[in-house]
Amino acid sequence: MVSPAKFFLILGLSVFVLLFTSVSSLTCTSQKFANNQLYSKCLDLPSLSSYLHWTYDSSNSSLSVVFLAPPAQRDGWISWAINPTGTGMAGSQALIAFKSNGVITVKTYNISSYTSIVQSKLSFDVWDMRAEESDGLIKIYAKVKVPEKAEKLNQVWQVGPSVTAGRPDKHEFQTENLNAKGTLSLNGGEQSFSTGEGDSRLKKKNIHGILNVVSWGILFPVGVIIARYVRTFQSADPAWFYLHISCQVSAYAIGVAGWGTGLKLGSESKGIQFTGHRNIGIALFSLATLQIFALLLRPRKDHKFRSYWNIYHHGVGYTILVLGILNVFKGFDILDPEKKWKSAYIIVIAALGVISLLLEAITWVVVLRRKSNKSTKPYGGYNNVDGRQQQT
Ligand SMILES: *[C@@H]1O[C@H](CO)[C@@H](O)[C@H](O)[C@H]1NC(C)=O
Ligand SMILES: *[C@@H]1O[C@H](CO)[C@@H](O)[C@H](O)[C@H]1NC(C)=O
Repeated sequence: MVSPAKFFLILGLSVFVLLFTSVSSLTCTSQKFANNQLYSKCLDLPSLSSYLHWTYDSSNSSLSVVFLAPPAQRDGWISWAINPTGTGMAGSQALIAFKSNGVITVKTYNISSYTSIVQSKLSFDVWDMRAEESDGLIKIYAKVKVPEKAEKLNQVWQVGPSVTAGRPDKHEFQTENLNAKGTLSLNGGEQSFSTGEGDSRLKKKNIHGILNVVSWGILFPVGVIIARYVRTFQSADPAWFYLHISCQVSAYAIGVAGWGTGLKLGSESKGIQFTGHRNIGIALFSLATLQIFALLLRPRKDHKFRSYWNIYHHGVGYTILVLGILNVFKGFDILDPEKKWKSAYIIVIAALGVISLLLEAITWVVVLRRKSNKSTKPYGGYNNVDGRQQQT
């Protein structure tokens, strides 16, 4: 017979043991390897739930490592790399593990730049490479030759969502991904990791995104709507004109600031180029600057060139409208913020679209009615949706 006291003691102990093991499994020291292989040092890497175990043999400059991480999605990849020439991804010599035809494999890649990820030999010797997968965690085992008397190495690690035709697909660019690098001190001295850089860069990208969405993506279209529809109402003349001007001039000012942050970001990200987004951005800036000059060179309303000026001004305006919205979407794809931001923008732009359609209909009704009123009088004037030529 087990007495109640004993029963509760045993229960309490098992709960304690359970708790203890589950907590300690969150750190590298509790991780075990096949054949009871032991490594002299281990490290809980600060991002992407990854771990590194290693033994450094300085007598023959060899480093035996195990890197553990969960791939970003089930059929994704994990990677651990040494960068002999710099601190980031560009230039790193990577071991990447993923499932190929259902079998987990590890391959070596020379990542000379963000766009060139080539399966190749590395710039140092690697041997005894293999990978294992269990419980959603992949382990990469390898031995690498390190420079003689090395004390530190630049390490970079990463996880990605998928593999297409044997090639690892692009990983995300969240803070965690950007911060997945540091200096590995081989003898167990102070380890250092990338910290604020990813954060401040992300902040800059968000500022760039917000400025440009507000200017090219929202204010410009609103200014166009004002110019096209509000002036139909005679009572709104010349208020629509000042509204239009202030809307577009503030859009321009914010847009130029956003454009500047974009150029800065572009110049800071060596190796990554979003050519389409960049070129559209430059075109937008040039066209918008042209519009500002057009304002200054505007012929008087009754000048014979005024109609040409109108065609030109409207043409450039609509081009900016389309390119601006297009580039905002390209930007969303690059920055890849939480879905809700893109959805919010789609809602705003759809609402503006619906408002425009309604106003378009109202404008036609107003103009047609005006026309039929006028047609009973000697001179019919309003023959155009723009309806402005004959005012004042
Ligand atoms: C270095 O020594 C270790 C342990 O003795 C051995 O396993 C490894 O193969 C050696 N590496 C080289 C490059 O000779
Ligand atoms: C990696 O690629 C770069 C650029 O193509 C090249 O210069 C370098 O020699 C390559 N490294 C190795 C180890 O193949």
